[in-house]
Amino acid sequence: MGSGPIVAVFGAYGHTGRFVVAESIERGHVPLLLGRDREKLAALAKARPGFETRQASADDAASLDRALDGAAAVINCAGPFASTAAPVIEAALRAGIPYVDVAAEIEANADTFAHFAERARAAGTAVVPAMAFYGGLGDLLVTTAMGDRTSADEAHIAYGLSNWHPTGGTLAAGAVSARRRGGRRVRFTGGRLEYHDDALPTLEWPFPAPLGPRSVLGEFTMADVVTVPSHLDIPEVRTYMTAGAAADLSAPGASAPAAVDERGRSAQTFVVDVLVRSGDTERRVTAAGQDIYAVSAPLAVEAVDRILTGRTRTAGVASAGAIFDAPDFLRALSPHLSLHLHG
Ligand SMILES: NC(=O)c1ccc[n+]([C@@H]2O[C@H](COP(=O)([O-])OP(=O)(O)OC[C@H]3O[C@@H](n4cnc5c(N)ncnc54)[C@H](OP(=O)(O)O)[C@@H]3O)[C@@H](O)[C@H]2O)c1
Repeated sequence: MGSGPIVAVFGAYGHTGRFVVAESIERGHVPLLLGRDREKLAALAKARPGFETRQASADDAASLDRALDGAAAVINCAGPFASTAAPVIEAALRAGIPYVDVAAEIEANADTFAHFAERARAAGTAVVPAMAFYGGLGDLLVTTAMGDRTSADEAHIAYGLSNWHPTGGTLAAGAVSARRRGGRRVRFTGGRLEYHDDALPTLEWPFPAPLGPRSVLGEFTMADVVTVPSHLDIPEVRTYMTAGAAADLSAPGASAPAAVDERGRSAQTFVVDVLVRSGDTERRVTAAGQDIYAVSAPLAVEAVDRILTGRTRTAGVASAGAIFDAPDFLRALSPHLSLHLHG
């Protein structure tokens, strides 16, 4: 066991939680394994001997306080986050420790900014929502493409996924978000979230080689529409998804990701192609890697490591691009992510 900081992982036995636990151990952190189900925790304890487990429920504040006792930080991997983010942030604020989550729910992420910005800033505590593939990586890429600028006309984030076998947590989060929207769709335009009933446009996105041009759904809106505008003045933020992956997600009986390597990653590959436009000037940054769930772990654990070692630019509720040195953060992920800065 490492002698590093104790990092609580809520939802430790979930698909993403397991990647986060493995990554924490690899980084020399000591994961404290938290979850609401005692039996699932006991099974995880067998797979991770030597690491402490503690049961806690989002609707039982005292259980969360006991669970976080002695932790230096908490990573929340238990979604839907509409139910877990607020109570775990409250517990982190009571404990005076930083909070990072992997939420990909637009409304839940927006709530985190709206409800906790003042208190987290006053407490000097870092609260970083969407510190994962969706929301976090796109924001780091946009921020990197921006360089020293803080405003642009448009940001486009195109997701080129080879396929998308969703976890139960992804499907549940999607269902909760859809209910919150009353079945409507959402996009970020004119500097704000706009709810609408328009059909999603299909277009071709020119992913760089080797992927090349692919059919994508436009306005396939992801958490980046909360994280990017939280700190950059960009009135149009649009996200796109390869049509095949979007169809996988909504297919009846969609199957969960299957491990193909010793790290537990699936065969899924991804390209995230980011284009930022200001007048006639375009800047483009592209990242590629394997398995969107697996790569969320180094994103979240790197974030915690930077917070605990003081490598932050601000306190309070902040997205990845606001709180971290984005290009430096992305360079640190090079074992997991190949990065291409065009031109
Ligand atoms: N932003 C991103 O790119 C990104 C990346 C990865 C994951 N995510 C999100 O992270 C969440 C988890 O995904 P996953 O892939 O790990 O799914 P998963 O394998 O289905 O795991 C879900 C986990 O959340 C726990 N959980 C659900 N509701 C809970 C509640 N009310 N209280 C306590 N624990 C609760 C589950 O515990 P039980 O088994 O006890 O129900 C389980 O540990 C999803 O919302 C997903 O959208 C986002």
